[in-house]
Amino acid sequence: MIWKFWRKPTFFIEPASEGDLQALADIHAAGFSETWDEDAIAGLAASRGMICLVARPDSAREEPAAFVLVRNSGEEAEIITIAVAPQWRGCGAGRALMDHVVRHLQAERAQKLFLEVNEQNRAALALYKALGFRQVGTRKGYYKSNASKAAGASNALVMELSLA
Ligand SMILES: CC(C)(COP(=O)(O)OP(=O)(O)OC[C@H]1O[C@@H](n2cnc3c(N)ncnc32)[C@H](O)[C@@H]1OP(=O)(O)O)[C@@H](O)C(=O)NCCC(=O)NCCS
Repeated sequence: MIWKFWRKPTFFIEPASEGDLQALADIHAAGFSETWDEDAIAGLAASRGMICLVARPDSAREEPAAFVLVRNSGEEAEIITIAVAPQWRGCGAGRALMDHVVRHLQAERAQKLFLEVNEQNRAALALYKALGFRQVGTRKGYYKSNASKAAGASNALVMELSLA
């Protein structure tokens, strides 16, 4: 994996398969304090309007480096979660997944894409701002993880991207 340090890899993006579920649960657990096990991810992925995509480094044979769950309700869509394995962060996997999601939703004629992000999540905010998301609301004290309890709960920013 030495090449990771001198060039950005390309990511192969495709729908998640059943064999990916453990890897997705691990990636999610590394990114969030609230863990989702394989069954939780499988249940979400199978729910109405949901799209679950994985990004594999370079080829279809590799373990997922990242995944995204998106719900498309027709005119509006929502990012349910996106997470990149710690060793693949900063390599363009998040950007590649989001670019793919945006193109897919535009082809499906969705008009708007929404998401919620912790106001303290610098990496995610950088990604969403680079994509053109703008803040359209705030949910005060939305994130009450153990880590943030000491400093008080942190706010969720509601962000929107126009797909038209
Ligand atoms: C947030 C997350 C999905 C970003 O994915 P990533 O693959 O690391 O991001 P990328 O390498 O694609 O970078 C995307 C952009 O964000 C910027 N960025 C990435 N990490 C950054 C960081 N730590 N600080 C500042 N900017 C950062 C990059 O410079 C890049 O900008 P560019 O497209 O203008 O060059 C990833 O860090 C992650 O999984 N975090 C844990 C889970 C999480 O917070 N999910 C989001 C919940 S809303």
